[in-house]
Amino acid sequence: MVHQSVDSQASAVVGLQWGDEGKGKLVDLLASEFDAVVRYNGGANAGHSVVVGGERYSLHLVPSGILSPGVKAIIGNGVVIDPERLLEELKTLQDRGVDTSGMVISDRAHVVMPYHKAEDALREELLTAPVDGGSVQTKQVVSAIGTTRRGIGPAYADKVQRATAIRIGDLLNPEILASKLEMICAMKNTVFAALHPSEPEVFDAAQLTEEMVAIGKRLEPMIQDTAYLLDDLRRAGKSILFEGANATMLDVDHGTFPYVTSSNASALGIGPGSGVPPQAVTQIIGVVKAYCTRVGGGPMPTELFDAIGEDIRRRGREFGTTTGRPRRVGWLDLVALKYAAMISGATELCITLLDVLSGEPELKLAVAYDMPSGRTDRFIADGILLDDAVPVYETMVGFSEDITAVRSFDELPPSARAYIERIESFVGVPVGTVSVGPDREQTIRR
Ligand code: IMP
Repeated sequence: MVHQSVDSQASAVVGLQWGDEGKGKLVDLLASEFDAVVRYNGGANAGHSVVVGGERYSLHLVPSGILSPGVKAIIGNGVVIDPERLLEELKTLQDRGVDTSGMVISDRAHVVMPYHKAEDALREELLTAPVDGGSVQTKQVVSAIGTTRRGIGPAYADKVQRATAIRIGDLLNPEILASKLEMICAMKNTVFAALHPSEPEVFDAAQLTEEMVAIGKRLEPMIQDTAYLLDDLRRAGKSILFEGANATMLDVDHGTFPYVTSSNASALGIGPGSGVPPQAVTQIIGVVKAYCTRVGGGPMPTELFDAIGEDIRRRGREFGTTTGRPRRVGWLDLVALKYAAMISGATELCITLLDVLSGEPELKLAVAYDMPSGRTDRFIADGILLDDAVPVYETMVGFSEDITAVRSFDELPPSARAYIERIESFVGVPVGTVSVGPDREQTIRR
């Protein structure tokens, strides 16, 4: 039998740092050129801010493509969905006049249940309290992850555990759902009672079933087998844009483990999270801030604890979209960036928030790490070992001009251009886009 060829173009936008790189803006800019925008990983832990016509939209679960009329917004099977939050988000968009009829949800996406959020919070609390190692006191090497407490890790854990997982498709089958929840709630309640005997969380299977069946009815028109849908779209020659959530350095396999999220948040997650084969994606745009930020725990070698860090946080409005937490700020880490571009297979870079660096007399770039074992230019994908990394910096001249109105690469101050060219030469990937402000228009295409 002859294999039928699929003539379709797929691209991806993926964060190359620890999240919040401004992917939402880029996806929104590109979305109208595509027939479908697909989320393939993460859940309501992600926060994509998009400014359209001066209006700011904060999206957590809904793909940013929803803001482009006529584009299908697909939540793939690799996403973990808090269904109540999803409905709330859709309602907020509808109230603001956004057409959400293009929304599709995979029947195989997993559901974040209320007990997952309770488990997330409890685990973080338990990790914050020091562990008593018994007769030998050991130093606790892993502290709280600093999660968003959206139940992401526990939902993915149940997915991998299999028997204790609920998928979106289950919400449409009350009998299956009731039976699963009875078993799951009995197990969860026992675990909560053991881990937190003073105030154990108790979940009622019958009540949860009722709530989830009602939610399932509301979601039903959007639920489909999205692997087939995506294949149909590809066979019809339609173009697809994959929207990464979280970011490459938070990838559960290739990030700063254990200080990561629980999904393949690099471009490597596209295949398993959507059912689209890897060779389909030919363009991968890696989004990177002109400096580094991180929310939550875990190492960040170039972190700034001084007035420069404060300035950048203030100018960049570096406070979490999802949790409101102040973000940790640091110089651009080229060692980490080159590694992330490798893992995600970036074919081009988009540098965001370059305008925020205006006013800094000097700009530093980490080009190697000093480790106890010597100097290295390789990233150490281990959140415990990376803690010992001391960055080796290259210093460049900064720029003081306001660049928010600049619309072409050649109009940028020479030192800003040199900074971008240095990133490009170190990483070995061309910079295709530079963002100089939150609005759609504040973008330089090269
Ligand atoms: P979780 O995904 O809520 O389990 O959190 C795990 C880690 O990833 C924490 O340090 C979070 O702050 C971080 N994280 C998860 N999603 C994002 C994101 O979209 N942007 C930035 N950090 C994130």
